[in-house]
Amino acid sequence: MKLRVSRRESFNAAHQLSDPNLSDSENHQLFGKCTNLHGHNYVVEVVVSGQVDPATGYVMDLKRLSDLICEEIIEQVDHRNLNTDVPWLHGRLPTAENLAVAFWDRLKPRLQNATRFAVRVWETEKTWAEYSGDG
Ligand code: NI
Repeated sequence: MKLRVSRRESFNAAHQLSDPNLSDSENHQLFGKCTNLHGHNYVVEVVVSGQVDPATGYVMDLKRLSDLICEEIIEQVDHRNLNTDVPWLHGRLPTAENLAVAFWDRLKPRLQNATRFAVRVWETEKTWAEYSGDG
């Protein structure tokens, strides 16, 4: 019997959507006002799929999942500029899509026992992007 369990954490960070290879007007055309530096209250939601361990009744200890998300992601991105301050985000435009992939990559080595997991990044209350390792 396979179930899904989830943990969400949040962080605040600044970003701007601006491709350094393009001119200001090209960036404005592509990204509008998101070209300007601005902030979001992000929410990261990690959903783990797996079997229930008969010994604990858990798919996964969600306190442990919380610790992993904080260690690998939140502590490194909270109150940062995502364009410049986080070495493992360098070279990626910090859209919700690219953040979901980068966060998934960070968690992958720490979640070897999960049969499958997904990372959903909420950029606003109305918008999110999700990645589950499908390439
Ligand atoms: Ni934005």
